[in-house]
Amino acid sequence: MRPQVFVTRQLPVPALQRLGQVCEYRIGTDRGVLEREKLLAGVQGAHGLISLLTDTVDREVLEVGAKLRIVANVAVGYNNIDVATAKERHVYVTNTPEVLTDATADLTWALILSVTRRIVESDAFLRAGKFDGWDFDMLLGSGLTGKTLGIIGYGRIGRAVARRAAGFGMNVIYCGRDDIAYRDDPQHNALMMARQNVTSPLNQSARIDGLSARRVTFNQLLERSDVISLHIPLAAATQHLLNQEAFARMKRTAYLINTARGPVVDEAALVEALQQGRLAGAGLDVYEREPEVSAPLLTMPNVVLLPHIGSATLEARTAMAMLAVENVIEVLSGRSPRTPV
Ligand code: GLV
Repeated sequence: MRPQVFVTRQLPVPALQRLGQVCEYRIGTDRGVLEREKLLAGVQGAHGLISLLTDTVDREVLEVGAKLRIVANVAVGYNNIDVATAKERHVYVTNTPEVLTDATADLTWALILSVTRRIVESDAFLRAGKFDGWDFDMLLGSGLTGKTLGIIGYGRIGRAVARRAAGFGMNVIYCGRDDIAYRDDPQHNALMMARQNVTSPLNQSARIDGLSARRVTFNQLLERSDVISLHIPLAAATQHLLNQEAFARMKRTAYLINTARGPVVDEAALVEALQQGRLAGAGLDVYEREPEVSAPLLTMPNVVLLPHIGSATLEARTAMAMLAVENVIEVLSGRSPRTPV
């Protein structure tokens, strides 16, 4: 008997064709988010589950899906999956790194340029019939050349965003996973600061990927950046990483960009910081209680809001679906998956 796979939502045809070469599959829904009952019904008897970031794959799902051997998330983030329970039950969890890196980095830059150059606001201005002639100081934005881009999370996407910064003449500073995890540890921060003063080839903060991106402490990044961009996964240690205290450290002229996960930012604190002018603007692709967006954000001209489209290119989404399918095929054929988490 061929392995059974439950695919929560319709995926690009080439990916399903490939899946059909090896497995029997059923699709939960043509579009949108699959209802919980349908997810629970779908995993019964299934050997593989292909899920999306909107599917909550918790203990109950993993127990009802007692035969599951793999949960292949079609996303790089996997905070929607109870990985600990999956591990306990010997169920592989896979994600889709790499294939969406460029799409997400490009979208990050689309947001950076949109907020700093007031693109959306300018478009609305024109459509409202307000463009009645060129004017010298009409819709002035904020330039990027020589400014500092602070990248929080220096993994694949963070580095891809940094590479693009070179084309805009920006200085790049960043903090990695440890700098975030140990942000309140004085010893870690003292070591990091001491390293910054050493110009040796061993100095990690000097050059990475041929870029002159400098590694700094979390607080230094908040204090020095003109644009801050988030590229870290959502986990207990990163929930509300950007809170009232963090906003208070940022420059009043700084912009915040979030293409990672909504709950990394305390959205109420962000709204308050924007209302009080403690921040110049924000570009958001993700929200704390998606798809809900804090109402005051909707009225702010200095905020650009996107509906979680970071990886939404035809190329990236097709490649993500293909990779998830390959992971399922590998595991259900008795091999190791390509991209386990
Ligand atoms: C999108 O948000 C992803 O995690 O792939």
